[in-house]
Amino acid sequence: MKILVVGGGGREHALCWKLAQSENVSEVICAPGNGGIDTHARCVAVAAEDVDGQVALAKSEQVDLVVVGPEAPLVAGLADRLDEAGIPVFGPSQKAAMLEGSKRFSKEFMERHGIPTARFTSHTDLEEALQEVARRNGPCVVKADGLAAGKGVLLCQTTDEANAAVHSILADKAFGAAGGELVIEDFLKGEEASILAICDGTDFVTLIAAQDHKAAYDGDQGPNTGGMGAYCPAPLVTDALRKKIIDEVIRPSVDGMAKDGTPFKGVLYAGLMIDGERLNVLEFNVRFGDPECQPLLTMLKSDLATVLLRAAKGQLAGTELEWHDGSAVCVVLAAGGYPGSYEKGDVISGLNEAATVPDVMVFHAGTQKDGDNIVTSGGRVLGVTGRGADFGDAREKTYRACDLISWNGMRMRRDIGHRAMK
Ligand code: AMP
Ligand code: GLY
Repeated sequence: MKILVVGGGGREHALCWKLAQSENVSEVICAPGNGGIDTHARCVAVAAEDVDGQVALAKSEQVDLVVVGPEAPLVAGLADRLDEAGIPVFGPSQKAAMLEGSKRFSKEFMERHGIPTARFTSHTDLEEALQEVARRNGPCVVKADGLAAGKGVLLCQTTDEANAAVHSILADKAFGAAGGELVIEDFLKGEEASILAICDGTDFVTLIAAQDHKAAYDGDQGPNTGGMGAYCPAPLVTDALRKKIIDEVIRPSVDGMAKDGTPFKGVLYAGLMIDGERLNVLEFNVRFGDPECQPLLTMLKSDLATVLLRAAKGQLAGTELEWHDGSAVCVVLAAGGYPGSYEKGDVISGLNEAATVPDVMVFHAGTQKDGDNIVTSGGRVLGVTGRGADFGDAREKTYRACDLISWNGMRMRRDIGHRAMK
């Protein structure tokens, strides 16, 4: 089969790399791709958000399956358009993508279906939101309703901070249209893990648990980013906890979406806060996490193309996934300044040397080709991902490869997976 992967980040590089390994795949096309993806796929310059362009490309290339990486085109209705065109697509409809596209929608969905999540209220009115903050008189979390590239979540320790957060979202429009509405919820304690499920609308199969590192600096300090690294499996999620997550979160969510008339097809990503016996959903995403996708697909033994095609066609029932033993770790190499402003166009060196480290893949995120060079073109530039017999082995190989790569201003966290080391 011929597959089109939509997107051009580290997640999409990992998807193309894994899909291209399948005996059942004749060609992988990636739009728009990046400076590293063309080793595994033919890159075509159509932007991920260009819904018309992606549909036209899928038609003209007569692909057998479209795999949508990022959330924006899903929320914009790309899967619906491909569906109308009769092209199998792995990714949720516009209505189902609201689980990520609107915090209020997802909170109300969880409330309606008894899925555990922090207590919340939602507001469009500034005065009402400020009254809620005053009523709470303590820590809370304020979230812009819409898509804000992971930046619309403000963790507030005090009433003053919460007031400022409400003002910045509703009055100052810090997140633009994404902040026409906001959610205020309880500040939860615990440790985070993510469970991703591949869903076909009715049935699902879960992946091993992953943990990402959103904070910019070591020790989980500094501003939130899209993710500075991730690893799997997360030892926090024992078999018993995994069963509980499936019973209390994943199955009710898949069933609830079907019952509501918006069956969920694609990756349902549940971001969880775990505090002893207590389990709460922090958020849903409607796609593979980036960078969680990189270590997850590195650990996956099964043929991804077959699994995703079955999911796209509603034929997932009975599918089981096979995994490699051990662990995988992804360390993001970022441009200096990220998640703030940063330089682009710096020449990256050491890629060939890093490629010689056994069991390591260097997934490209923000890169492009410039003559014979690969140069930086984004904040998160590379996702160096290694697999090992255990977590320590995976980590050692990964950082060994990271230390062979450099460019002007390159930065990484040195403590990815520190919780697994404990
Ligand atoms: P979200 O995009 O909703 O997952 O939020 C981004 C990050 O903010 C999460 O990964 C958590 O670290 C944190 N967060 C979100 N909601 C809460 C909450 N209710 N309590 C504590 N931390 C939260
Ligand atoms: N790494 C978190 C995300 O993809 O949303």
